[in-house]
Amino acid sequence: MNNEILELKQRFEDELAKIDDLQELENIRVNYLGKKGLVTDLLKRMSTLSAEERKTFGQKVNELKGIVGDRIVSRTAELRDMAIKQEIERMKEFDLSVPADLGRGSYHPVTLIQRQCENVFRSMGFTIEDYSEIVTDYECFEAVNIPKDHPARDMQDTFYLNNGQLLKSHTSAAQNAILRKYGKSLENGVPIKAIFPGRCFRNEATDACHENTFFQMEGIMVDKDISISNLIYFMKAMLSEVFQKDIKVRLRPGFFPFVEPGFELDISCLICGGEGCPSCKHSGWLELCPCGMIHPEVLRMGGIDPEKYTGFAFGLGLTRLVMMKYGIKDIRDLNSGSLKAMSQFTDDE
Ligand code: DAH
Repeated sequence: MNNEILELKQRFEDELAKIDDLQELENIRVNYLGKKGLVTDLLKRMSTLSAEERKTFGQKVNELKGIVGDRIVSRTAELRDMAIKQEIERMKEFDLSVPADLGRGSYHPVTLIQRQCENVFRSMGFTIEDYSEIVTDYECFEAVNIPKDHPARDMQDTFYLNNGQLLKSHTSAAQNAILRKYGKSLENGVPIKAIFPGRCFRNEATDACHENTFFQMEGIMVDKDISISNLIYFMKAMLSEVFQKDIKVRLRPGFFPFVEPGFELDISCLICGGEGCPSCKHSGWLELCPCGMIHPEVLRMGGIDPEKYTGFAFGLGLTRLVMMKYGIKDIRDLNSGSLKAMSQFTDDE
């Protein structure tokens, strides 16, 4: 008799250990404690026993009944807990309101490089100017010596607004305003030294190296006796600082209506090491920074006497510089809005 109880207890424990579902647990409860259950059966058998046997047997069966009941209650609680946890896990997969686990925030790579350039130029005494993205035709073209119908306008497929204004197609659009803003200080012997980074827009067909929205950083310096050597010095200082090494550059003659003489400053392509790749149009060089000596007409339109003062200007391709620095092969990645891609860059200052 006693053995029968022990065997039943063992069988119950074995069955209980195998299940992981509340429905199966309910089946077990019915199978053991239900009206026709195994434990209930044992209790029913008591009537057939002698008074002496009934006492000890009854005690043992009731003990078993208690144990089975307790174990079912505690297992029910465990399984409910597990089910809730599973449900929470499942909901996590679909709950769009749960913030993405992106860890620490980060700056866009263009912001990082822009700040780096700003710091270098600030340390060399330049002021940093901000300028509007919507400008007039005069600011963007006429004031930089590109009159209406000048063929140079074709180089910049411009987005015009209905009111005649336009999205600035180059940061040179701020030159006139800055020359006017600081022109007076020249009389007091203070040179104009300013950089003005900004977003530019052109109606470009996009590919790995062209975008309709990109960043430039323009710089000007005007004073008595400013020459091309000043220009080369500042550009080399800035690039060496950004890349933390001496950068190979070359100057080619280039035509821009607002500079005379004008140059293209190229740096060797850091992606392919100068061998040629889609990012450098297979030339090994990247046009990074057109520049030159500010055209006397541009100075005059900015209220500055070109007989007294000269200056240089450059239009750094900030977006290009970012691609070079970080080895980004496709310019379109920068405007992709992909946090996964764009949050990989950190300020290594
Ligand atoms: N604004 C010109 C462009 O986007 C670039 C440029 C060329 C700027 C020569 C300059 C410069 O300041 O001197 O095409």
